[in-house]
Amino acid sequence: MVAWTVVIAKKLGIFHVSFTTCGAYGTAAYMSLYLHLPHRHTDSSEIKLPGFPETFRLYRSQMPEYLRVADGTEPWTTFLRRNTLFSLQSSAMICNTIEDLELLGLQALRNLTGLNVLAIGPLFPLEAITSSYQRKGKKPEIQLEACLEWLDSRPPGSVVYISFGSQNTITASQMMALARGLEASDKPFLWLVGPPAGFDLNEEFRDEWLPEGFEARVGKNRQGLLVRKWAPQLEILSHRSTGAFLSHCGWNSSLESLSRGVPVIGWPLMADQFYNSKMLDEELGVCVELARGAEDTFEYTHVERIIRLVLDEEKGKEMKEKAIEYAEMIRAAVEEKGDEKGSALRVLDDFIRGMEEASPGSKS
Ligand SMILES: *[C@@H]1O[C@H](CO)[C@@H](O)[C@H](O)[C@H]1NC(C)=O
Ligand SMILES: *[C@@H]1O[C@H](CO)[C@@H](O)[C@H](O)[C@H]1NC(C)=O
Repeated sequence: MVAWTVVIAKKLGIFHVSFTTCGAYGTAAYMSLYLHLPHRHTDSSEIKLPGFPETFRLYRSQMPEYLRVADGTEPWTTFLRRNTLFSLQSSAMICNTIEDLELLGLQALRNLTGLNVLAIGPLFPLEAITSSYQRKGKKPEIQLEACLEWLDSRPPGSVVYISFGSQNTITASQMMALARGLEASDKPFLWLVGPPAGFDLNEEFRDEWLPEGFEARVGKNRQGLLVRKWAPQLEILSHRSTGAFLSHCGWNSSLESLSRGVPVIGWPLMADQFYNSKMLDEELGVCVELARGAEDTFEYTHVERIIRLVLDEEKGKEMKEKAIEYAEMIRAAVEEKGDEKGSALRVLDDFIRGMEEASPGSKS
């Protein structure tokens, strides 16, 4: 149900540390919501979030349905609150983020939890953020080759890559509107398609879920490539033809897109995804939201307009420039130049030193 967990990562005597796999902003916003249920204390559509600055506002539509109706008595809120209150007794919280990238998020998370929050992200392999990333291992080689070959044939910065992650779906009517909008936009797209809401995620994809003749048409004129079940996401995001990522804004996908300098077209579907999309838009300026949640309805022309905005217009150019700056920032956080270590490496060193000093066997 939720995309992030807090777990006790290390227990050495009295020393324990929480770990959030999400970003600081997303963790703070989501945690603040179910700990304090601020939406229960106002009828307004704009909600103040404890922990965030007084001027900060969240829209009710940026809350997943299950949270909007929550009053704190549900088993899942009870569980998360107990779990979170326990983790608030930790000595520190490790967060999968980068200090300079999430100024507001880290400030809010520290303010909300009172904990020493350590930014040690991004938690993917170092080679994944260097330019020559090539996946090692057994994943479907054919799929990889097919994607790269197709991308090679498209102009630089022209392709929209679409994926809603492994655990999310959109509705059948949203899928139709998205397909029509993509086709109308005239822009190349690479789409990781999956069954719409209400069907088993592992079910074979059926043509009836897309407009009649869609895949054959976009295949024939080479406008679009549809892939199923799995896509080599980092390779796609690393490819020079990729111009934007239409994403559910899961934190992994968000960081991966940023680390490759690719602007985001946001469509958050659950949990912290709403706050990741908001942060990428309002704080970082690299995202435009296309839709929000699985209930949102829109015309195909809306899809067409957003895609053109991001790929063709000044706004998109600015997003791209910023995304490239953040990619540099992320790389710098995990790089070592002579004696100079990036921020994530320094925080990690300090953390390990602190743990050694605090451990029962320590001489100091
Ligand atoms: C910390 O949280 C409080 C309570 O929500 C808020 O009033 C204050 O502005 C926050 N401080 C900062 C620095 O964000
Ligand atoms: C996110 O990325 C990490 C590091 O690559 C990986 O271990 C984890 O399984 C990913 N999570 C999801 C939900 O894909």
